[in-house]
Amino acid sequence: MTGPLQSLALKGLHLLDAENAHRLTVLALKSGVLSAKPAPQDPRLKVRHWDLDFPNPLGMAAGFDKNADVPDAVLDLGFGFTEVGSVTPLEQPGNPRPRVFRLPADEGVINRYGFNNEGHAAMRQRLLARKAQSGIVGINVGANKDADDRIADYVSGITEFADLASYFTVNISSPNTPGLRDLQARSALADLLQAVVVARDARAQTTGRRVPLLLKIAPDVVEEDLTDIVEEVLEKAIDGLIVSNTTVDRSGLSGQGPHKEAGGLSGRPLFRKSTTVLARARKLAGPDLPIIGVGGIDSAETAWTKIAAGADLLQVYSSLVFKGPGLVGDILAGLAERLDKHGFSSLREARDANVDAWASEPL
Ligand SMILES: Cc1cc2nc3c(=O)[nH]c(=O)nc-3n(C[C@H](O)[C@H](O)[C@H](O)COP(=O)(O)O)c2cc1C
Repeated sequence: MTGPLQSLALKGLHLLDAENAHRLTVLALKSGVLSAKPAPQDPRLKVRHWDLDFPNPLGMAAGFDKNADVPDAVLDLGFGFTEVGSVTPLEQPGNPRPRVFRLPADEGVINRYGFNNEGHAAMRQRLLARKAQSGIVGINVGANKDADDRIADYVSGITEFADLASYFTVNISSPNTPGLRDLQARSALADLLQAVVVARDARAQTTGRRVPLLLKIAPDVVEEDLTDIVEEVLEKAIDGLIVSNTTVDRSGLSGQGPHKEAGGLSGRPLFRKSTTVLARARKLAGPDLPIIGVGGIDSAETAWTKIAAGADLLQVYSSLVFKGPGLVGDILAGLAERLDKHGFSSLREARDANVDAWASEPL
């Protein structure tokens, strides 16, 4: 779809309620109606982390393709990787509708989906049915709302998908499952991380591959929480961090639109906070831990800023709602231009350039 058509389609989608617009977008991707000119892939944007070769550093964030309906169509938009889920062991309906809200004046989104998804078995079938088992597809695992033992739900996700996941994300940072974020507290986190590492290593005995394990954290943390989290991550040899999920903070909004709705806020209003937490996490973790920066990226400039604040890889979701899939190519082209401008041959050379300034921003 070309630029003018894309903006017309976006206007049409915005006439619908946000959840229906999302469903229609997934359907359009599934049927091939929605496709973008693949973004040009500059070889300098290639990055290798763990045993994975990313064609570029920009991924689709979790929550867009909750049931792995369209991983290949998403990759075809030019993304370097995609993350499906969050998926829970059992199918669950999530919260009552309406549960997603656009804030056009702020270019933000509030969602309180509450892990609506079709469960492990349905996702497994879809992933097995993919024609080409190629491209980097991470699987984001969560816990059912009424699970007696939440840790067991994460372990079950790791066990179920160890033969299919490029990497795993352990998502303990959704604000929409009551009590889930409590797993970020130190002793609960230690138990959880220990359990998922044991499950991953056990499955590696049969699959022959130790799937990288990433932890996705909330931006609503104080310095002590973050120190605890990063120390546990390093101690348990978790392979990476994703910073961050949505925020419950509503400061800095214009006050227009449905800004008082409960749920997690994402998009432009999340940028400052998620980038601050990213930079602080980078300083605590040191240079070697791969970190995915996510939250409010909506341009090449904001993508570059995330890298300068400590990110190795990037993800987006909300800005696509406002700007459409052409944004992927724009961001990648803009990153390549910035490499030219600075005379860098890789994104790694740009990383951390501004980490101190970002880390000193208030949380
Ligand atoms: C509608 C919606 C649903 C989401 N669902 C999930 C989810 O299921 N699991 C998860 O880890 N993150 C989920 N997220 C969070 C995103 O993956 C991302 O961390 C967050 O939106 C910040 O990025 P953004 O500002 O580019 O949107 C969701 C976000 C939105 C907007």
